Amino acid sequence: MQAKIALLPGDGIGPEVIAEARKVLEAVASVKGHTFTFIEGLVGGIAIDKVGTALPEDTLALCRAADAVLFGAIGGPKWDDPTAKVRPEQGLLGLRKGLGLFANLRPVRPSPALKGASPIRPEVLAGTDLLVVRELTGGIYFGERGRLNGGSVAFDTMTYSVVEVERILRVAFELARKRRKKVTSVDKANVLECSRLWRETANRVAQEYPDVDFENLLVDACAMHLIRRPASFDVIVTGNMFGDILTDEASMLTGSLGMLPSASLAEGTFGLYEPIHGSAPDIAGKGIANPIGAVLSGAMLLRYSLGLEEEAQAIEAAVDQVLEEGYRTQDIAQEGTQVVGTAEMGDLIAERLTQG
Ligand code: IPM
Ligand code: MG
Repeated sequence: MQAKIALLPGDGIGPEVIAEARKVLEAVASVKGHTFTFIEGLVGGIAIDKVGTALPEDTLALCRAADAVLFGAIGGPKWDDPTAKVRPEQGLLGLRKGLGLFANLRPVRPSPALKGASPIRPEVLAGTDLLVVRELTGGIYFGERGRLNGGSVAFDTMTYSVVEVERILRVAFELARKRRKKVTSVDKANVLECSRLWRETANRVAQEYPDVDFENLLVDACAMHLIRRPASFDVIVTGNMFGDILTDEASMLTGSLGMLPSASLAEGTFGLYEPIHGSAPDIAGKGIANPIGAVLSGAMLLRYSLGLEEEAQAIEAAVDQVLEEGYRTQDIAQEGTQVVGTAEMGDLIAERLTQG
């Protein structure tokens, strides 16, 4: 097949990990006879430096003309002034809103090869394989905000509509049907009106899926149970800010932020894919960042936007194989493993693919 993939490397280690993800996608394309065309755009701090805005119009247009977007990371100390009018995060938030990426999928499955990397005890972790589905274009992230009283009071508003809740719940239920058929909807319905609407709507949508187990859970309890009984979750669905917080927590179940991919999907097959780690300015430019989160994001791109399930699994298997063989980037190094750099890790994964 032919596909057009927009690459937005961004800041910090973004360009380094995206180069490896591209290498791996090219390897898979050559083995399976696909043609992927890559087009690069500016986003984040580098875009602020070059053209004065975190999300140039050109970048949005380039994404709209592509079948999918692969995104690196944004931000860094250079652009960290919280009072600045232009901030790198506006690039990411603008892409989410501008491209209608309402469904954020963050799978968390501790890699068998990385046993012992998590701060959670192995017997608690055993069997953990969960997927957080986070609503991404609504809620408090996009509500009205401002200052009152000459600046001494600030407010942010959380809004959710039935339509927004229904569509994200349906994504969660459809995905659960292909997994272990369990959905946990997370809210704060004991306090927030938005959450009461969320829960009513979730209960109603759940009736359309009688084959899927369904439960509601308050977000504070969910935060606790994620640590206490992570293996009991299958699909967790929640709003924008709760999802932001719970996915950072859940990522620690694997013990390695550098390994985790994510997908942000629009209606249809279009999506943006990114590792969940940030721009890691402290290690940028050193060639030591872990590219696996970006590489696995590439696999999700093949799965969800291009419908290439077999190719996606081939990448995932190649990653597992390289880890089984004992290769590690420094962030996941353990005793007796062989530490390699970013490009070497990309080469190893690409080689395992081309060797079949
Ligand atoms: C994430 C990040 C973003 C978010 C930031 C960079 C705006 O934390 O993707 O989880 O809060 O959504
Ligand atoms: Mg976050």
